[in-house]
Amino acid sequence: MDIIKNRRSIRRFNSEKVSTEDMKKIVEAGTLSPTGKNLQENIIVAISSDDVLNNLLSSIRKHLNNENYNGFYNCKNMILVLSPYDNNNKKFDSGCIMENMMLRASEIGVGNVWINQFFDSYDSPAIRAFLNSIDIDEKYEITCALALGYSDDIPKQKENKFVTKFI
Ligand SMILES: Cc1cc2nc3c(=O)[nH]c(=O)nc-3n(C[C@H](O)[C@H](O)[C@H](O)COP(=O)(O)O)c2cc1C
Repeated sequence: MDIIKNRRSIRRFNSEKVSTEDMKKIVEAGTLSPTGKNLQENIIVAISSDDVLNNLLSSIRKHLNNENYNGFYNCKNMILVLSPYDNNNKKFDSGCIMENMMLRASEIGVGNVWINQFFDSYDSPAIRAFLNSIDIDEKYEITCALALGYSDDIPKQKENKFVTKFI
């Protein structure tokens, strides 16, 4: 419960990279997620290469038609969650995978934030060119992304506005 309570979205990363060992721990947590009908059709891509991450940032800037987009917050590592575009549960499966990875990353002290700008980018030529460059089949789209890294800037817990009802 402490890990759930203490997780925060981090939006300012320093230049320190996440180790391969820690990236593997975070991805492993993603692969332990439940998926609809237990299909496990997702692909999880862990990016630690500066070149690949820069290509991805260029691609999303083209896709958004915004050269100034900086929603990766200068992270040095990112994990992409991919789903077959025709999987009816892709949003739910990807959300479960993301939460598992966010909690595991937080547990081992790796800051993280969900990046949502890839959703609905299946038809984007810029994003497709990026996916081709890393040998991803055309039936997949990026459903979610997780920016990862380290920061001294830990935001406070937000006000809890959920409605709950016990009957
Ligand atoms: C579906 C979803 C999409 C999100 N997309 C983004 C995003 O694109 N960029 C961003 O900075 N944060 C994004 N977030 C993070 C939320 O803004 C954040 O979780 C929320 O403000 C609560 O803050 P906390 O994570 O620190 O508790 C997203 C979170 C979720 C669950």
